[in-house]
Amino acid sequence: MKILAIESSCDDTSVAVVEDGRKVLSCKTSSQIDIHKVYGGVVPEVASRAHIESVVPLTRLAMEESQLEFKDIDAVGATYAPGLIGSLLVGLNFAKGISIAVELPLVPVHHIKAHVASLYLTNHELEPPFLCLVASGGHSHILKVEDYTKMKIIAKTRDDAPGEAFDKIGRRLGFDYPGGIKLDQIAESGNPDSFQLPIPMKEEETLDFSFSGLKTAMINIINKFEQKQAPLPIEDLSATFRKFVVNCLVKNFINAAKILNIKTLAIAGGVSANSMLRRELQKKCAENNYRFYMPEKKYCGDNAAMVGAQAYYEFISGSTASLDLNAYASKLLLP
Ligand code: KG4
Ligand code: ZN
Repeated sequence: MKILAIESSCDDTSVAVVEDGRKVLSCKTSSQIDIHKVYGGVVPEVASRAHIESVVPLTRLAMEESQLEFKDIDAVGATYAPGLIGSLLVGLNFAKGISIAVELPLVPVHHIKAHVASLYLTNHELEPPFLCLVASGGHSHILKVEDYTKMKIIAKTRDDAPGEAFDKIGRRLGFDYPGGIKLDQIAESGNPDSFQLPIPMKEEETLDFSFSGLKTAMINIINKFEQKQAPLPIEDLSATFRKFVVNCLVKNFINAAKILNIKTLAIAGGVSANSMLRRELQKKCAENNYRFYMPEKKYCGDNAAMVGAQAYYEFISGSTASLDLNAYASKLLLP
């Protein structure tokens, strides 16, 4: 079964054709990073406009690369929530247009579930149940993936998402948007033990996350350097911040696995591209005899291939939408 999938929830326009939820026949993505970096972050109106300009040419390219015609496609899937409302509406309405024109079923896809499905594109043997950490610019969830479409939230962030915290600190260190990627690269040559930061919610017995205290403590350290007009040790600052964020993610994720007695673990979302997070979880999972899965780096950030993967599982479980389907900026992940 072949699905044409559209992703436009934030600042990437992406169109893919995916077969049976696992095989990517084509995936064409246009990143808006160069457009938004002059503003230091995503400007929603500008993002919607850029999606409008890209979605048709990307669809042509994706169809061409898949060597299929619309008559060969079985359904069209699109991200309908959560994300920037104007951005979501562009992809969703485009998918509706295709669904009318070519008479295809329309499959709504939740963005967080799509990130989980990015794992199936490379790890062909992976099947639910498993425990998944989804960490991105907007989300930070530990999910019990009970089935392809049923997921239970075990823990979440109480304030910032880790990608958001990385991007904000990256910006203060002078990196272009999105600073998380650059911070990860620069951290490789720094000393992670250069500064002391607070351990979030140390006194509480919780699997939830909190990154805003870490971010504030880090900004205070940066401010002190600037007040003294001393040069910023950006390698050491990056390495220290990355270590504290990654340690929080790893500690709670491994604790959750122990508490729930789940031995198959996986990560997904933009932050799952982080080199230290990938290394540390591989190590911890090996120590505990857990199976561990990661998406390929090209499928960590937002892309339509993961939407096509999830759309397949939604479709075969009977989830299609009529044309009055709306987009939602925030929508809880419901089982
Ligand atoms: O999943 P994604 O593309 O969009 C959201 O759904 O939010 O994630 C984007 C986030 C950005 O905050 C970006 O800085 C972060 O993922 N990111 C990283 C790395 N690569 C992307 N954060 C840390 N280390 C990386 N290597
Ligand atoms: Zn995302």
